[in-house]
Amino acid sequence: MALTSCDVDLDAFNELLTPRGQRALAEAGELTGADPVAAATRMRRTYDAALTSAALTQAGLRVRARAKFGADAGEMYFTPHGLEQSTRAEVAGHRARRVVAAHHLGPRVMDACCGVGGDLIALARAGCAVSAVDVDPLTVAVARANAHALGPAGRVTVSVADAATVRPEDHDVLFADPARRTGRGRTFDPMAYSPPWPVVLDLVSRAAKACLKVAPGIPYEFIPGDAEAEWVSYKGEVKEATLWTGHGDGGGRRATLLPGGHSLAATGVQATAGPVGRYVYEPDGAAVRAHLVGEVAEMVNGRLLDPMIAYITADDPVDTPWAARYEIADVLPFSLKKLRATLRERKIGNVTIKKRGSAVDIERLRTDLRLNGDMSAVIILTRIMDKPSVLICDVPPPA
Ligand SMILES: C[S@@+](CC[C@H](N)C(=O)[O-])C[C@H]1O[C@@H](n2cnc3c(N)ncnc32)[C@H](O)[C@@H]1O
Repeated sequence: MALTSCDVDLDAFNELLTPRGQRALAEAGELTGADPVAAATRMRRTYDAALTSAALTQAGLRVRARAKFGADAGEMYFTPHGLEQSTRAEVAGHRARRVVAAHHLGPRVMDACCGVGGDLIALARAGCAVSAVDVDPLTVAVARANAHALGPAGRVTVSVADAATVRPEDHDVLFADPARRTGRGRTFDPMAYSPPWPVVLDLVSRAAKACLKVAPGIPYEFIPGDAEAEWVSYKGEVKEATLWTGHGDGGGRRATLLPGGHSLAATGVQATAGPVGRYVYEPDGAAVRAHLVGEVAEMVNGRLLDPMIAYITADDPVDTPWAARYEIADVLPFSLKKLRATLRERKIGNVTIKKRGSAVDIERLRTDLRLNGDMSAVIILTRIMDKPSVLICDVPPPA
């Protein structure tokens, strides 16, 4: 019987790996972008319906996967869910380098729920010997094909198993990236992860070292006391948190920016609130999630606009990858009428609207402002000392 995961089928997937399947996949690759019906009709002249569908689906997934895996995507295999859940190559690479840096020799890593192998490939390429399992047979077949296509030969094994049965004791590092999707979509509740959170914690407790990928919004109370928590953003978007145990910085918090590789650890410095200066700084989301706003404020000699909100204000222009900087042209108490009048007066017709600590609906506001003019501005809706306020800022020059 064929096992399915979404619209990829295990038997058809295995056929894709045969010489005939590879020819079908190459032809499907040449047809990407063509009308789907015409592409299927053309493929059906040579191949049966199952192989045609598998090859066209795979070719389409490879195109989608370029955003995460770059040129490697052209040699990799995916399922729709597997691609969606996989770790972007730059993020997996950063994590893999950290895993390896803690060892003299390439460590033996157990990847307890490997998916299609985004992390697995990065770990193997960084020099780890990886034993990987996944509970889903099709996903294992895909991960194996990816390890074969890209992984250094002989450094990876992939088997079908439940994470609850693996033995972290037999490895130097446990890696786990539990599924965060349920039948009802993405979950933010670690108790709904698969493998379940208690299983993951049991594995972590038995591992000499562990590295756990979790959602960036993980509630702080779920972070084990002996773990360092690292929030990672890629091009300004927070992608994930990683919990590290046995790596020497238990209880610490850290933020990392990719692709630049900047990393900032908590020092405990607190920012205080103070008067509005010439600039407003918007800290990167990874620093905000890691509660490192005080550290960023210190970097720019700044203070908070409001004690509860992660906007920093300062008098000097300090260049830092940790925050976007905007020069403040005007500060107003929030009022639609007043804001509209000020923007009209300044002939501002294009606005980028940002907000923190404001319940205003941005799209509704944009409509209500009825903008008109050639000038541009960045508008920041926030609270200043608890008062709803708006900052009108100059658009920063391109970086
Ligand atoms: C988020 S994905 C892993 C993605 C992977 N790190 C990557 O970059 O491609 C999570 C995987 O956990 C698997 N999984 C869920 N429950 C499991 C269990 N109890 N044991 C092993 N694997 C499991 C799912 O099949 C899924 O492929």
